Amino acid sequence: NILPVILSGGSGTRLWPLSREAYPKQFLPLVGADTMLQATWHRVAPLADRQPIVVANQEHRFMVAEQLLEVGALPEAIILEPSGRNTAPAIAIAALEALKAGEDALLLVLPSDHVVINEHAFHAAVRLAVDVAEQDKLVTFGIVPKAPEIGYGYIKAVAGQGVRAVECFVEKPDLATAKAYVASGEYYWNSGMFMFKASVYLDALARYQPLMLEACRRALELAKRDNDFVRLDHEAFSASPSDSIDYAVMEKTENAAVVPLDAGWSDVGSWSALWEANEHDADGNAHHGDVISIDCRDTYAYAQRLITMIGLEEVVVVETDDAILVGHKDRIQDVKKIVEQLKGEG
Ligand code: GDD
Ligand code: MG
Repeated sequence: NILPVILSGGSGTRLWPLSREAYPKQFLPLVGADTMLQATWHRVAPLADRQPIVVANQEHRFMVAEQLLEVGALPEAIILEPSGRNTAPAIAIAALEALKAGEDALLLVLPSDHVVINEHAFHAAVRLAVDVAEQDKLVTFGIVPKAPEIGYGYIKAVAGQGVRAVECFVEKPDLATAKAYVASGEYYWNSGMFMFKASVYLDALARYQPLMLEACRRALELAKRDNDFVRLDHEAFSASPSDSIDYAVMEKTENAAVVPLDAGWSDVGSWSALWEANEHDADGNAHHGDVISIDCRDTYAYAQRLITMIGLEEVVVVETDDAILVGHKDRIQDVKKIVEQLKGEG
């Protein structure tokens, strides 16, 4: 009884100038023709027993509804947050809404802005997760780490292979710790996808975050419903502590299991990650839109109009209606400095 819960609350700026506060990356077609939100539904639809519950910022409600309609999804509910309180409350609201239908569904919690290249492997991992989640576990999906990234959660499983109990979960460790974890070979990255019964998650919240659970319950009780939109009560929801599921629950619980996932997963947190996630030509170039390149190697270009380039290596070029970004691939994460500077001027 799989019920997908799609989280669409983020406002990434690392893919500037394409992603903006009003237009975060889940609403953009970054790999292929689907937007990332649409790709999320396409990826999970074959496994889903129920239509998804989507939790989003109210500013984005029409984009969410339109984009899902385009791919034939008819959400059970589009829950609208007046302002984000991070993922733990967002998932709590979805769990409470799911239980309204009476049955205790298996929630498959999915960020709306990740890439999974091998859907077959993803489906196989979810099927493994079902058996464990049925046994009242909080299931995570673990990725073999490629580098000591500090933006991820790290999961240590008990010794063995395949699906295992989690020994410890550490969200966003410092660099020295991350390096030690990766070197040990004993840790997975947390993919940010989860599976558990709605009731099991709510029980964990009742234990570790009772105030959050209470605030979410009230915000949903007092919500205004029109069509598919469920508008959370502003005051009640604001009273919830703001925290991620990773800190609020996963670091604390002793009831977690991890399913290894080797499916070409990426959270495409940077232009260089996007270059990696897209198909390359023989010279390592990945291009989106109208791009003509001559004698280029390892370049990434995203064109809304036309980009032409000659004799470039390891360069990222992104052009939109009102801004152009050109940078070296190894430096492109510094786009955040540009965004900061622009905000300062704004
Ligand atoms: N509805 C809603 N409301 N969604 C939200 C909110 C919110 O307030 N905050 C974040 N989200 C959504 C984002 O859109 C994203 O799809 C997902 O939840 C995860 O949030 P991020 O803000 O991107 O989290 P993170 O990248 O710092 O860390 C998480 O993901 C990593 C993997 O990408 C953690 O789960 C880490 O442990 C994990 O390694
Ligand atoms: Mg993220």
